[in-house]
This record gives sequence, C-alpha cells and structure tokens, in this order.
Amino acid sequence: MAANLSSRIALAMGEILPKMAAFSPQHKSSNTSLIDLSLAENLLIRDELVDIFKSTFQEELTPEAFSLPHEFSGELSVRTPLASFFNRFFKPAVNVEPEHIVMTAGVGTCLEALVYSICEDGDTIIIPGPYWFGFEPYLRTRANVKTIVANLESYQDHGSQLIQALEEAYSSSPNPSRIKAVLLCNPHNPFSQCFSPEVLKSCLSFCQDRGLHVISDELYALASIKGPKTDLMKFTSVLSLIDDKIINADRVHIMWSGSKLLGLSGMRIRLTLSYDRLSENLKKWGIEFLPASEGMFVFAKLAKDAKTGEEADELFAELAKNGVLVSPGKFYNGINTEIGWARITFSVSLDVLQEALARMSQILDRQVS
Ligand SMILES: Cc1ncc(COP(=O)(O)O)c(C=O)c1O
Repeated sequence: MAANLSSRIALAMGEILPKMAAFSPQHKSSNTSLIDLSLAENLLIRDELVDIFKSTFQEELTPEAFSLPHEFSGELSVRTPLASFFNRFFKPAVNVEPEHIVMTAGVGTCLEALVYSICEDGDTIIIPGPYWFGFEPYLRTRANVKTIVANLESYQDHGSQLIQALEEAYSSSPNPSRIKAVLLCNPHNPFSQCFSPEVLKSCLSFCQDRGLHVISDELYALASIKGPKTDLMKFTSVLSLIDDKIINADRVHIMWSGSKLLGLSGMRIRLTLSYDRLSENLKKWGIEFLPASEGMFVFAKLAKDAKTGEEADELFAELAKNGVLVSPGKFYNGINTEIGWARITFSVSLDVLQEALARMSQILDRQVS
C-alpha cells in the first residue's frame, strides 16, 4: 500500500496508525451487550435531534439548499446566526462578526486547517497534558506539526499548574524557535473542569511574550453540570479576554462545534442527574475522582489498587468483559506515575448509566476496603 502513497502521508501514517490501533477497544464483552462509556458522545438528546432534523427537512428544505456555496469560509446565512450565538453565550470582549468566523467540518478539521495555516512543516505546538489523543492525527497528518506536552505534577487543581508547566515545556525544548502555538482545551477533556480567567490571561501573556498563537478548543463549553454550589470554576471563553494590552487578537483562535453540545437546556438537567449518580457510586466505591463542572466525563482512579499499568489494564479488561467500556487514562498523555485512571462518559440515559453502574459494582465492590 505504501508504494501508492506520497512519502509525506506514508511517514505520518507510519507514526499514527500504530497509536490509533492501540486506542481501539481490545476487549469484547463475553455475553452481555456492551455499554460504551469510553466515547465522547452525547446520547442524551438523540431523540430530540431526530425530531428536529425531521421537521426541519420537512418544513424548511428548499431547492436553494443544493446550490454551490457562495463563500469559502461558510455561508453567510449560517455564520450570521453563529455570530449571534457566540455573542450571546461566550460573552466576547469584542462583538463577534460573521467575518470573524470560518466554518469547517468540526473542530478536528478546524485544528488541521488552522495549524496548516500558522505553522511550517515540522514546527511544534505545546499542549498541556493530559489531552485528547485525537489532537495528534489532526496535527501530524497534513501539517506535520509535532507536539510538546506541558506536564502537570498532579491531577488536582490543574489550572494553578498551567503556567509553570508551559514555561518548563518551552524552556526545555531543544528548539524553542520552532514552537508556534499553545493548544488549550477549556472546558478540559478528560477533566471536565475549566481554567479561571486569571490563568487564561496569564496564558495569553505567556504566548504574547514569546510570539506564539493561542488555540482554545472550547468544544465542551456550555455543557455545564448544575449541581450544588462548588468552588469549581465556571467556563470563561478566551473570546471574553481578548484585549490588545494582553495579546494581539490575530494570534487568538477559538474552536467550537455543535458535535457535543446541541440541545442546551434539556441536556444540562440530564447531565446533572447522570453526573450525580456516577459520582455517588464512585464515592461509595472509595474511588478518587476529579469533580466535574463542565463537560461529559469524569476522570477517576478506577483501578485504585493497581500498582502497574498492566494491573490497571486488567481491571479495565475485566470491566469490559462484564459489559462496560471505559477509556483508559494512559491514552491521554498525562502523568506517567499516575496509574489506574480512566475517563468515564456519563452523557448517556439514566437507565443505561444505572445498568453500567450495576455491572461495574460486580467488579468494583471487591475493591472497597
Ligand atoms: C477536545 C476535543 N476536541 C475536538 C474533538 C473533535 O470535535 P469535532 O467532532 O467537532 O471534530 C473532540 C472529540 O472528541 C474532543 O474531545
């Protein structure tokens, strides 16, 4: 196959395909139908989406919908309501106009096009770990952009460690002049927590001082978990902090898509119920987890007694055999010495979550000391 490929893509695929193979689930459930809590999917609003799409096609579809596009960056008739959406929910410091928006087929392809536009072949960008493993294929395949991980010392209070982690990553790079950007994920995947406005501003200054771009992946914005009052940060968009005194606006790029959120208000209530149910059970099992404020996941030390990565994998495999798939923490470029963590998706219906918890109980009750 490689003979028919360009040397560029053969090189990129040679690196990426083995990693992707490692991410695909190894374990199949023996007799139960698998409940997949490893995917970043929002299953809470599927029924409503079917209704909305059916009625929209029925009532709104006109022959013009099949015309050639008029603009390269997306139809004005879509960018105009999108601008209103950002102005209403992201509280931008400067009004978002349709011409500020470029439409792509989701955040992944947006990142790919963006780094292709701001980086040279072989440049690097810094990403605070842990981070979503899907970033790498989008960075590497077309633009050949490499990553430097800004490592945390602990998973607790990741925001307060951000600037030091960025400084260390930058200064320990063998070639800082090839670093072109910092990629933030806020709200964070896999932590489902947000950076404070102060931390975000310091990050903007860090980038301005070094001539770097800031890419803020805000895909999980507005998926807030409305529970009892906590001191966890609420979401602040980088859009609301753009200020020429801190950073030139043309170095700041926000990415968002509807792929996780859609269906705002209804989803919030259901997210909260599912989150509460999952966190109650984690507490009952004595499992450490990061409390979530915005997003669809809980990052938890499910294999709490595991001493090695293999022991953690054994527990995840056992859960999968019993019909529940979670996403092992080792995929997220986190802290090497933190063993046993996993990302658990809770944006599924309460019935499904209840069944998943019952299955998990059969394994995890054993761990309760
Ligand atoms: C942090 C993050 N960014 C981007 C994406 C991809 O988003 P999209 O579906 O809009 O391409 C994902 C998908 O899981 C994600 O978790």
